[in-house]
Amino acid sequence: MAPIQVKKICCIGAGYVGGPTCAVIAAKCPHIQVTIVDLNKQRIDAWNSDNLPIYEPGLDEVVKGARGKNLFFSTDVDKGIAEADLIFVSVNTPTKKSGIGAGFAADLNYLQLATRRIAEVSTTSKIVVEKSTVPCKTAESMRTILEANSKPGCTFDILSNPEFLAEGTAISDLFAPDRVLIGSLQTESGLNACASLSEVYANWVPRERILTVGLWSSELSKLAANAMLAQRISSINALSAICEATGANIDEVAFAVGKDSRVGPKFLKASVGFGGSCFQKDILNLVYLSESLHLPEVAKYWKAVVEMNEHQKSRFARKVVDTLFNTITGKKIAILGWAFKKDTGDTRESPSISIANHFLNEKARLSLYDPQVTEEQIWLDLTDYGAIPAEPIKPHVTIQQSAEEACKGAEAIVICTEWDEFKTLDWEKIYANCPRPAFVFDGRLMLDRKKLQSIGFRVVTIGTADGY
Ligand code: UDX
Ligand code: ADP
Repeated sequence: MAPIQVKKICCIGAGYVGGPTCAVIAAKCPHIQVTIVDLNKQRIDAWNSDNLPIYEPGLDEVVKGARGKNLFFSTDVDKGIAEADLIFVSVNTPTKKSGIGAGFAADLNYLQLATRRIAEVSTTSKIVVEKSTVPCKTAESMRTILEANSKPGCTFDILSNPEFLAEGTAISDLFAPDRVLIGSLQTESGLNACASLSEVYANWVPRERILTVGLWSSELSKLAANAMLAQRISSINALSAICEATGANIDEVAFAVGKDSRVGPKFLKASVGFGGSCFQKDILNLVYLSESLHLPEVAKYWKAVVEMNEHQKSRFARKVVDTLFNTITGKKIAILGWAFKKDTGDTRESPSISIANHFLNEKARLSLYDPQVTEEQIWLDLTDYGAIPAEPIKPHVTIQQSAEEACKGAEAIVICTEWDEFKTLDWEKIYANCPRPAFVFDGRLMLDRKKLQSIGFRVVTIGTADGY
């Protein structure tokens, strides 16, 4: 049998991965109908409006160019599944909060519910593609669920096609990916399914960048890529502590180290710590996998990457307290940036949340600003989605509409996200509105330290010795 030509794609899950990925597929493949479905009506309504549910540079143009032509957003999950030849499963797979593997393993409940739905609704054969990051061997359990629940005559081929886009640069990453990875069973039908999906990407991705491998290699490669990227950040952050203690400068060290072509210059920026929905989750997944495979030393090795990240966040928060003469009780502290990195409104695992909690525990007053994150989202984060009562913290937190407003009267200004606009603030005006001494804590090494010092600020950064 020859590979089928994909004409209709359904994507289950209209989130940070499914939305941009399938919008780009629609834009690049006008001959393919792409329907993105989600159970969350509010999210689908937003995708169908002028106000998309996620902020991502370039996404508006892509969606508006294809929506209503060959790109559709719908809550009718069953219809989307029934009509498609190929289904991307792009649902959330958060870290489990309870039960076996709590705190480490991925919660595959959403993925399994979506898989069951595919089995129940399908009346024709489908290619089912796991897009969400999943533990190794998830494809196997998806196959078991599909086969156990399918109708006669319906067959399912399962592919792993992990997404490597980074938020904030999702559209350019999708337009020109370093690679597209497709894993399949090495059977005739598995290889055919792989060829069908490769053809979709070949509409805009050079063939040599489309890598086809076995299912398990594909699943593990995604975890491995994220673990190794996160490991670079924890390594540079560990070195930043040494720099602070010795007088070396972490940017200079990173530059010198990155000049070695075997190391390379990217992903060596010291920071308040990494955030985002992937790094921590995927490493914890790898730790859980290693432990399940009776490889405790391997588990310990990867776990240290997350532990170093936790240490970096609390080390930075403690540094603020120490510098402000060992107490911040009642002091106003401005936090600039709530998203986990610039150019996104996503706050999942954002270091700002841990740092704000640390300051609240010290009874500081917080004044927060982020150009993209909504006030509602900041409250969800501060209350851990309702698990912590909001009333006791409410009097201590204000959320402002500009950086300048947030900094008014602040005894310390703490940069947590590297938004470009923070570089060009009117720092003289901000200084004029701050009590003395006025401190800036640059958790992203992004500001012009000398300029701020010449204005009068005392500047404390990650990875450099104090010297104000
Ligand atoms: C990451 C991977 O890069 C991507 O390939 C994968 O598909 C999903 O996970 P993302 O989490 O969106 O993407 O953003 P990324 O740019 O990797 O940044 C993650 C975190 O690391 C951010 O908090 C960022 O600020 C931080 N970071 C990144 C650093 O602290 N220093 C660096 O040098 C790079
Ligand atoms: P990611 O960052 O991986 O894209 P998100 O949480 O942003 O994760 O998106 C996942 C989406 O999947 C959510 O909008 C959620 O409503 C949706 N979803 C979860 N389970 C199902 C399901 N069974 N059917 C349809 N959509 C689902």
